[in-house]
Amino acid sequence: MESTTTPQAAALPRAKAAKAGARAAGATGPRWLPWAKGAVFVAAWYPLARIVFFGFTDRLGANPIEFITRSTGLWTLVFLCITLAVTPLRRLTGWNALIRFRRMLGLYAFFYAALHFTTYIWFDKWFDVAAMLKDVGKRPFITVGFAAFVLLIPLAVTSTRAMARRLGRRWQTLHRVVYAIGVLAILHFWWMKAGKHDLALPKLYGAIMLVLLGWRLGVWLLARWRAARAGARAV
Ligand code: HEM
Repeated sequence: MESTTTPQAAALPRAKAAKAGARAAGATGPRWLPWAKGAVFVAAWYPLARIVFFGFTDRLGANPIEFITRSTGLWTLVFLCITLAVTPLRRLTGWNALIRFRRMLGLYAFFYAALHFTTYIWFDKWFDVAAMLKDVGKRPFITVGFAAFVLLIPLAVTSTRAMARRLGRRWQTLHRVVYAIGVLAILHFWWMKAGKHDLALPKLYGAIMLVLLGWRLGVWLLARWRAARAGARAV
């Protein structure tokens, strides 16, 4: 007798079984993960909500544009540091679910960088290229920030799973650019504050970045040393 089940209906239990299998293998993550991701997603709007709230309650200070530029700049750096901390924390704690937050955190770093950049070119300079060039001549740290922002764009564009699959190994190579972005971000901050003789915060973030990038360098050197030792033993 011919079966009356449609191919779609037949695929349903298979999809369910595959999902259950994936969950059993830990591939879809623990049950609380979507809730935790939702909580992080909402919490990451706090810096923007704070600016909007301060705007409505007249608390942005005497120079609101400066307040917004500085706030979005600092939060870009904070999200950059948190994103870079995901892998070391995951390795140190063995908490693999942490990796599921990395893309979202990186995209928030890009989001705040875009707001920071937009505030500067729009509300500070009103798209006046001559005024921007004059400013960059006086404050070259802006060029460094711009370089960091430009480098963030391909990382944001290729952050999807589909892009990672498409680029294969090249994806990882491309995303190593984030280390250069980290260094440029600190240089931008340091240079800006050096002009004001106020290096307390740049020193703090510089130290955090040094630990995060130093950890990676250490892991890479250790892997190379182990590979060289294994190669020497094989000979
Ligand atoms: C990844 C990219 C970037 C990061 C991480 C970043 C970070 C920062 C930080 C931390 C500050 C100081 C905030 C404070 O005083 O507490 C700052 C200030 C500033 N940034 Fe950026 N920035 C980036 C990109 C850019 C870009 C693309 C521009 C413009 C083209 C820019 C222009 C400025 C300006 C003009 C200031 C100083 C504002 C003032 O004088 O008060 N930044 N940035």
